[in-house]
Amino acid sequence: MSTAPFPPGFLWGAATSSYQIEGAAGEDGRGESIWDRFANEEGRIADGTSGAVACDHYHRWREDIAIMKSLHLGAYRFSIAWPRVIPAGVGAVNEAGLDFYDRLVDGLLDAGIDPFVTLYHWDLPQALQDRGGWASRETATAFAEYANVVSRRLGDRVATWVTHNEPWCISHHGHEDGEHAPGIQDPPTALAAAHHVLLSHGWAARAIRENVPEAPVGIVLNLTPASPATDRAEDRDAARWMDGFFNRWFLDPLYHARYPEDAVADRIARGHLPSSGMPFVETGDLEAIAQKLDFLGINYYGRAVMRMNEGGRPESVPMAPKDELTDMGWEVYPDGLHDLLVRVNRDYAPSPIYITENGAAYADGPDADGRVSDPRRIDFHRGHLRAIHRAIADGVPVAGYFAWSLLDNFEWAHGYKKRFGLVWVDHDTQTRIPKESAAWYRDTVVANAVVNGSL
Ligand code: FCB
Repeated sequence: MSTAPFPPGFLWGAATSSYQIEGAAGEDGRGESIWDRFANEEGRIADGTSGAVACDHYHRWREDIAIMKSLHLGAYRFSIAWPRVIPAGVGAVNEAGLDFYDRLVDGLLDAGIDPFVTLYHWDLPQALQDRGGWASRETATAFAEYANVVSRRLGDRVATWVTHNEPWCISHHGHEDGEHAPGIQDPPTALAAAHHVLLSHGWAARAIRENVPEAPVGIVLNLTPASPATDRAEDRDAARWMDGFFNRWFLDPLYHARYPEDAVADRIARGHLPSSGMPFVETGDLEAIAQKLDFLGINYYGRAVMRMNEGGRPESVPMAPKDELTDMGWEVYPDGLHDLLVRVNRDYAPSPIYITENGAAYADGPDADGRVSDPRRIDFHRGHLRAIHRAIADGVPVAGYFAWSLLDNFEWAHGYKKRFGLVWVDHDTQTRIPKESAAWYRDTVVANAVVNGSL
């Protein structure tokens, strides 16, 4: 049987985030996060739930590490809850919160699994939101201090540091369409937030490097390749707009120390920025943002095929029939990952690249024998791994892959109905059942190869 072997040392992992799995929202001195507040507001979460209990990982982390070990994972990407460590965002450190991550990191190392730590996966301390949140430059200062505290405590054992997860989502969903906490709908605020998130990335990277000079530090972006629906000039412009709004707005400052001129002009034209440009950018900010990174993390979930509608607005065109979409309503398009990797390598040359999230929501649950058969998830991961394999053959330095997610968890505004896990979680009993995709993933990890035709 022919195989697609990955390079020796390729890192295989799975990813989660604190608010989506930990629960224990009120325990051991954890402060309130913007997601606690947001989820408690009427109508914010589709099924009316919250992450207050989630997967109860705060108490079940040993069992979860045992599952990871059984899958032979080389790394586990998880995030630290800022409000557990510094409950008010600034000031007093909560040692009990740090102790939890200390135990988790030791437990992972004992199991032979590299801790791949994300400092911010969206659970901002509410106390900081009350003072302006990411729209305020002070939050960037606070984040650098938080990074300092965590890296001082865990820096001797953490393998890899990610500052932020998906600045586009923080900015856009948090402050522009309001689908995520803190639920603001104000484009100028979103742009200030995006800048302060990037700035805080640069400052946090410096803080981590001061404490742990050898530590690999990077950032995770969600990137979406954009192409025009037709060859019409308007549709090509819609694709350019999407690429600027979604990808280059973050890649250009990080790798070229500038914001993309055309995308800034788009924002000025819409009245989201004054004609003078970006009032919140101060001298030295772009140098801090663009300091050299040790890797780039890319989260990939799909592509955007764009057209300009009658009203002159860019919009994405659905490309797949409804019955082929995942439960999120997303198209499955592995080729987009190959194309994206080749493009990012060509235009920005980050090295190495990790695919820090990739996965699909399908509801498949236990049958009468308690087995979870989820062939569509296996197809999804296999297809995307083949796309990565082709990108590596084309010279893109991809060094690892993290399945999203280890566990079925709290999928933000969708609640618990969207299941991305390799492992089924019964959210009433907290029973975990590895799905067939978990067994398939284990075999892939052990072989360091995607075996053609294997289930
Ligand atoms: C990403 C998030 C992650 C999860 C997946 C489905 O945008 O980083 O927490 O919600 O989408």
